[in-house]
Amino acid sequence: MNRRLPVLRIGAASAVAALCLTAVPQAASAAPPATPPGLAQQDTLRWNTPKDFRIGSAVAGGGHHTSADYPEPFPSDPEYRSVLAREFSSLTPENQMKWEFIHPEEGVYDFGPADDIVDFAEANGQVVRGHTLFWHSQNPDWLENGDHTPEELRAVLKEHIYTVVGHYEGRIQQWEVANEIFDDSGRLRTEDNIWLRELGPGIIADIFRWAHDADPNAQLFFNDYNVEGLNAKSDAYYALIQDLLAQGVPVHGFGMQTHLGLQYGFDGRMQQNLQRFDDLGLETAVTEIDVRGPVGADGQMSPELRQKQADWYRMALEACLAVEDCNSFTVWGVLDEHSWVPNTFPGYGDALTMEGGYERKPAYDALQETLVRSQPGGDAKWEHHPAFR
Ligand code: G3I
Repeated sequence: MNRRLPVLRIGAASAVAALCLTAVPQAASAAPPATPPGLAQQDTLRWNTPKDFRIGSAVAGGGHHTSADYPEPFPSDPEYRSVLAREFSSLTPENQMKWEFIHPEEGVYDFGPADDIVDFAEANGQVVRGHTLFWHSQNPDWLENGDHTPEELRAVLKEHIYTVVGHYEGRIQQWEVANEIFDDSGRLRTEDNIWLRELGPGIIADIFRWAHDADPNAQLFFNDYNVEGLNAKSDAYYALIQDLLAQGVPVHGFGMQTHLGLQYGFDGRMQQNLQRFDDLGLETAVTEIDVRGPVGADGQMSPELRQKQADWYRMALEACLAVEDCNSFTVWGVLDEHSWVPNTFPGYGDALTMEGGYERKPAYDALQETLVRSQPGGDAKWEHHPAFR
């Protein structure tokens, strides 16, 4: 892949403002010129993504959305769907493929909402990342509070993986097979993960083998948060994956969720960390990025923090673009108003790249500029980019 790291770091919004002030003094009172349709298409994230790279979003639905004061965006909001199609080339169901949604009763599957997303993605030339097959959270009651023997649980898990992965065979680019299996100190979650608790760590190799058997073309991933830097948790994944690969287990990728908080640091070794997984022959991906910060009553951070947030989005994208087989970068939602963050961390939010009526934040501009500049001739291209209009 022929990618270059961006060198100049000027936010598109500030660049637009600078141009308006110097070249078009009456711009504040004049109506903005209508954008020709071709230019509007070019002024998106998706249009500016290198051709072998995917820029993605979670598709809002389920989870915290079910108790929110807005209707589910994906089935009901044409503008939301149009932004998803225009801006992104990869989609991840935020909750719709998790056990509690897709397998609500024992032996009963509800593929409807996830099918809608996969159909939509195909109609819009997008790939889908499947999320997720093996997790300690969002499992249905019949599973968590059932009285299955270990032998029965193994059969339930195997049947689920063959059924769900088989249902989407050939339609999922990357499956998050195992999600969040280590805690932050690098210990396997052998208490809160029902599968690890009841079946032992040997089950990890089995689930990758089953998923590969059910869809030999899907890339099979581990996925977790707090693994962007070099630390005990990312070391634990590195050791486990080395071991599994040595046994011939079909593991193809490592996903860094990248749920960042401005109150913590940005580990500048993210590229180095991605690179060591790349060196194992794996695909890597940024799978769920958002960058939260402390917000006021209006739900917004200060302008200074928003700029810092934009820098962190840019640094994460630069780290991924700089690594040969980091080919996918997904934000965990489109609009701040739909984000999981305020629901889980009261007083924090403003974590995504768009707000309100799909207005772009500095974080959006940082991603767009980084994508443009990462390509050959990108600096010159950026200077003529429609974002400057
Ligand atoms: O199950 C309870 C229910 O008993 C209770 O009545 C109800 C009250 O609001 O809450 C229900 O739990 C909700 C859960 O989804 C169930 O679907 C939580 O409040 C809600 O916060 C949760 O949200 C989802 C969260 O995963 C669950 O862990 C979010 O929508 C979703 O964005 C988030 O996504 C995860 C990724 O899958 C994995 N990585 C971390 C990421 C952010 O947490």
